[in-house]
Amino acid sequence: MKTSMAVLQYFSEVIRKELGIVYLEANYYQLETRLGEVAQLNNCKSIDELYQLMLRGLSPVALRQLFDIATNNETYFYRDPSLFEAIDATILAEQKPNGQLFKVWSAACSFGQEIYSLAMLFESKAAKLPNGYGILATDVSRRAVTTAATGIYNDLQVQRGLSPALLSRFFTKVNPSEPSSDWQVRPELKRRVRFQEQNLLASFESLGKFHLILCRNVLIYQSVERKREILSRLYRQLEPHGYLILGSSESLIGLSDDFEMIRTDKAVLYRAIAKLAQTG
Ligand SMILES: C[S@@+](CC[C@H](N)C(=O)[O-])C[C@H]1O[C@@H](n2cnc3c(N)ncnc32)[C@H](O)[C@@H]1O
Repeated sequence: MKTSMAVLQYFSEVIRKELGIVYLEANYYQLETRLGEVAQLNNCKSIDELYQLMLRGLSPVALRQLFDIATNNETYFYRDPSLFEAIDATILAEQKPNGQLFKVWSAACSFGQEIYSLAMLFESKAAKLPNGYGILATDVSRRAVTTAATGIYNDLQVQRGLSPALLSRFFTKVNPSEPSSDWQVRPELKRRVRFQEQNLLASFESLGKFHLILCRNVLIYQSVERKREILSRLYRQLEPHGYLILGSSESLIGLSDDFEMIRTDKAVLYRAIAKLAQTG
């Protein structure tokens, strides 16, 4: 049964309000397919029935499911490999033995490939991190965070970005006797990672300060005003001279003056500008 335009507009408005993600009318066919999944999960025969349920007050579980289907979770290991080289050559190279844990936040971690790529880098370069490291991995999608926390990937996923050497060093087969078995990250990649749901539209002040924040391929879905607002709050979560990293097709131009651009021959990094405390 075809869903009415008014119902699709209603759901697209809920998604815009809750997540900042804008569904253009041209993409309503995609929204309709995805809403069909949520309808099924809630034993509704149609999206119209889901809409009626929603009007009566959607359960928090169903709202979470809506967040899951509304988001694009595309990701893979070592996405933009040159960026990881730049993190090694620039950020890790600056670390000094000062007793301060190197704190990293992946603010839209999706299914976890980004954080495990970082963890593989950090484990391989442990000598450059004399104070150790900790990674906070967050995403608004519960399905994404839960999957990331399992650290289990299928053959197709490990083939996207992982070399055979990294695969055999950092992963084991879930079921070694099965040729098509899934792969599990080794415990050393997980032991310094914490997983948590976090909507970037909501306050994240309580997460504390970080030396490095990755916010890659997520702001693209936000309006310019929202991007500015989120970036100014991300700035406040950085330690003095901390780094922010965006997706390779994203930039801060016209969005924030809080960062200086560090262009290495490998990638673009943004370093927080230290500001003098306001007086008077
Ligand atoms: C395209 S993936 C990017 C994953 C990874 N950072 C990368 O670059 O490979 C975008 C992620 O942003 C998350 N996301 C979308 N809107 C969000 C929001 N308002 N708050 C937090 N995460 C959000 C999605 O759930 C999705 O997992």
